[in-house]
Amino acid sequence: MTKVDVLLGLQWGDEGKGKVVDVLTPNYDAIARFQGGPNAGHSIEFNSIKHVLHTIPSGIFHPSCINIIGNGVVLDPIVFAEEVEILTKMNVDLHKTLLISKKAHLILPSHRELDAASEAAKGKGKIGSTLRGIGPTYMDKTGRNGLRVGDILSPDFTRNYEFLKNKHKELLQQYTYQSNIEQHEDAWFKGVEVIKQFRLVDSEYDINEMLVAGKRVLAEGAQGSLLDIDFGSYPFVTSSNTICAGACTGLGVSPHSIGEVYGIFKAYCTRVGSGPFPTEQENDTGEKMRNLGVEFGATTGRPRRCGWLDMVALKYAIMLNGVTRLIMTKADVLDSFDTIRVAVAYLVNGKQTTRLPYDINVPVEPVYKEFKGWNSDITGITNEQDLPVELAEYIRFIEHETGVPIHIVSVGPNRDSTIVRA
Ligand code: IMP
Repeated sequence: MTKVDVLLGLQWGDEGKGKVVDVLTPNYDAIARFQGGPNAGHSIEFNSIKHVLHTIPSGIFHPSCINIIGNGVVLDPIVFAEEVEILTKMNVDLHKTLLISKKAHLILPSHRELDAASEAAKGKGKIGSTLRGIGPTYMDKTGRNGLRVGDILSPDFTRNYEFLKNKHKELLQQYTYQSNIEQHEDAWFKGVEVIKQFRLVDSEYDINEMLVAGKRVLAEGAQGSLLDIDFGSYPFVTSSNTICAGACTGLGVSPHSIGEVYGIFKAYCTRVGSGPFPTEQENDTGEKMRNLGVEFGATTGRPRRCGWLDMVALKYAIMLNGVTRLIMTKADVLDSFDTIRVAVAYLVNGKQTTRLPYDINVPVEPVYKEFKGWNSDITGITNEQDLPVELAEYIRFIEHETGVPIHIVSVGPNRDSTIVRA
């Protein structure tokens, strides 16, 4: 019996998971998404063309790989149908390789409207949501009001849809928000028909049967550990468990069935949306990172906030996830920095700590360690031995601090710009 390996982000999302999953896919028989929805934007670049996936797992470009949308995912039929159309035009044969859990919840047009209305009402305190309806859909899931993918096969589906929509309309009346649900309904119901063309399954059986048959399954996380609903900087978080435990509930596999946990992080940090970010650089340094790293949201196009690597937060994420192997991405973005800084502790109320404070409103001052930059172009390097000594030192430091080996260093967006270490 094999185990499910898990790949997840250790920061605030956008760590480059799409590319790494794509690189790892040849080692796996199946890739499964376990949480989140179209708030994610997993970018994969090959043959110099960038592809962004929102709902469909990143293994879809490998023809023999099974791709599973697990029960923990929330699915928007409109976004899903758009993705299917783009991939079909690229001659990707989805119907053979994509399975969708009947237990995944559906994002209705009214969920998106509720998301927008709720954010608008929050004013300055807004979360900075991607406005994809994620929060309201998970609220309906836990509130036991939601509609699931399997429900689209029921003769009562339209009636149940209307019932939930009308409930949402009543809620929307509490806001001064002008909504127009009906204008999206046509596309939504067409999307539902597209979903019906796929294999709708109880994917927990499929996954566990694959494990019994010795197949290799990779669970692909979305967003990042610091956006986790329980352990992120609440309320500036997403609405699902983005940490490793989410793979168990979001796919129906037991904790015993978890194998390697790949934790992916950028050589620096970024965050989209509101919320604490202790090492943020609201200055030329941050601007330089943003421009060199092309740090603009794959889903919303918003500029990402940028800052130095935060070891306090990284170690916290490694602890929560039980990470067994680290993957560092975008090291090349730091190619032209003379000095590289890493936060090793925080000063909170004048006291030094290596814990994330509960209270997100208390000012946190990072304590930095400085490293000499490597000041050279590393994008063409494919061999670990050819890495500049300063970067090798940076890698050694992170491994020593975390106690976890860095298995892969990604030095550019292309599939080829990847150094796999022994
Ligand atoms: P929501 O999940 O769209 O409600 O957004 C909640 C918070 O998570 C916001 O700060 C978003 O910017 C952030 N977020 C959601 N999805 C992603 C992602 O895939 N990458 C990075 N940030 C995300």
